[in-house]
Amino acid sequence: MARLRIAFLGDVVGEPGRRAFAHAVPILRRDRAANIVIVNGENARHGRGLHPDGYDELIRAGADAITLGDHALDDERIAAYLNRVDAPVSCPVNFPLRSEKAKRWNRIATRESAPKLYTVTVLGRVYMKQDNGCPFEHADEAIRRITASDPDALVIVEIHAEVTSEKMGMAYHCASVWPGTVVGVVGTHTHVQTSDARLVVASGASGFASRQIGAISDLGMTGGHDSVIGFDPEVSLERLKTQTGGKLSPSEKDIACSGAMLVIDTEARSAVSIEAIRIPCDR
Ligand SMILES: [Fe+2]
Ligand SMILES: [Fe+2]
Repeated sequence: MARLRIAFLGDVVGEPGRRAFAHAVPILRRDRAANIVIVNGENARHGRGLHPDGYDELIRAGADAITLGDHALDDERIAAYLNRVDAPVSCPVNFPLRSEKAKRWNRIATRESAPKLYTVTVLGRVYMKQDNGCPFEHADEAIRRITASDPDALVIVEIHAEVTSEKMGMAYHCASVWPGTVVGVVGTHTHVQTSDARLVVASGASGFASRQIGAISDLGMTGGHDSVIGFDPEVSLERLKTQTGGKLSPSEKDIACSGAMLVIDTEARSAVSIEAIRIPCDR
């Protein structure tokens, strides 16, 4: 049975998050036998966007792929990386971008004979600052395009969204529309890990009954957990109380990586297990 063990970690918040990520990757590979490590880097530059140095740091630390969310272009220098085929960083499929060339998904190199694994990130629309259209339609369109050129593709969908219903809804949507193609649906954006990791059984044709999707509403984040979603509470509270925009600062306290371990059977084209994880970092 061909197993692929994938660690997907939630949003990296600032330097403490980058440090936690670098600390966690060898642990994930050694102790949890992770073959692939994916991370959302949208808050890696002091909480806003991904800068070139942050990109380099995450890649050097061992990221196989980096995804982004609604903060994708807070640092516009990352746009050049989105236009490079050799840079494993992608932008949400429904994020408004000027460049048609910008990568909307990551294709991750796996063992030569195994099917290729893709990550597709889509922004949700409930309670988000901007309505970027129906996430279900956007996800379907992206997966249609991927499978048109690579019919054997296996896909992990990341839904970057505010509400748990929209995120878990995506897992059940993919289970009915993309059995045997989508093997994982993970949520990001709230920075708070949910305790609802589960295997969703494909509900389409009965012949696909053994095909499952590993799903979790939110991976949580990579950074200081003694905080308000990764940031020092003081400024965060001030902003909430006054509804003004003070400058947030990433928390240095209780640094850890939160995410999930997803195990895929690449021959059966099905998820085998999914488990929420948290790896503390004492450096
Ligand atoms: Fe985030
Ligand atoms: Fe976000």
